[in-house]
Amino acid sequence: MEKKKLLLDCDPGHDDAIAMMLAAGHPKIDLLGITVVSGNQTLKKTGKNALHLCEYLKIDVPVCLGSPRPIVRDVEICPRIHGESGLDGVTFPPPKRSVDPRHAVDFIIETLLHSDEKVTCVTTGPMTNLALAMRLEPKITDHIHEVIVMGGSYANGNVTPAAEFNIYEDPEAADIVFRSDVPVTMVGLDVTRQVMALPDIVKRMDSIQNKASELFVKLMKVFNENQRKVFGLPGGPLHDPVTIAYLIDPSVLTVEFVHCSIDLSHNQSYGRTNCDMYDYQHKEKNTYIATGIDVDKFWDLIEDGLSRYDDL
Ligand code: BDR
Ligand code: CA
Repeated sequence: MEKKKLLLDCDPGHDDAIAMMLAAGHPKIDLLGITVVSGNQTLKKTGKNALHLCEYLKIDVPVCLGSPRPIVRDVEICPRIHGESGLDGVTFPPPKRSVDPRHAVDFIIETLLHSDEKVTCVTTGPMTNLALAMRLEPKITDHIHEVIVMGGSYANGNVTPAAEFNIYEDPEAADIVFRSDVPVTMVGLDVTRQVMALPDIVKRMDSIQNKASELFVKLMKVFNENQRKVFGLPGGPLHDPVTIAYLIDPSVLTVEFVHCSIDLSHNQSYGRTNCDMYDYQHKEKNTYIATGIDVDKFWDLIEDGLSRYDDL
């Protein structure tokens, strides 16, 4: 089976954890490394969480720390959803392995320039690391197959009426990536809010009864409760893994090619992904926007992904 090479940039985070699990265990994916950014929690905590998850799931790839803050704005973490640790709900023993000494931005550049084939970059946190890498070594864009972004929305946001967390956190970084010459697929709240870990889903995953499903159930318990308290949702939307599900099976999503720009205007819509879904402005199309999701197919992929960890 031909594998798709992948760099995963993330801020774990409950849903990031499930994205990592799905990516690392799937035979269609060759995970080259995990790079970490501040977002759901401080960089120190998201980095530690990435190490914990790698150790728990026996994921043997470099974990590199990246930017501790966005390019322009101040860092704003999200404990109300992900808790004090960033992965509340699970307690891990102190990690035995440590982070790779390379900076995430250097690692991204090095990995892309040395890869014999183009690499897919998935971002499930603020896009600071990838944007900085593009600025530091513009040649990397020739080595990127596509960027799949969990972020944005063509309807409403989840931090402000206009903006979704990952884009809101570092709009300037998102702007750099969206305006680069690489194909960008935006997996926004419009689709990710359709895959909520409702009680029957948690029960279904629990019945797998392995270490990965145990992790899933513990994480979703806290994630669901916080999503209920903060947004009044009946289950936590599993935002980040939708990117990986799409990489494994593109038929999970319906996408439309449109013009999309990031609002950088420092007003109330700062960080909005303005998607010209009706082509009002006749601007050059630059982004594949996810507009539909096959919910059953998505959960089948999550179930399959968890089942792949039976030997842990
Ligand atoms: C995004 O924000 C984070 O809290 C989640 O991990 C996800 O990446 C959803 O808006
Ligand atoms: Ca995330």
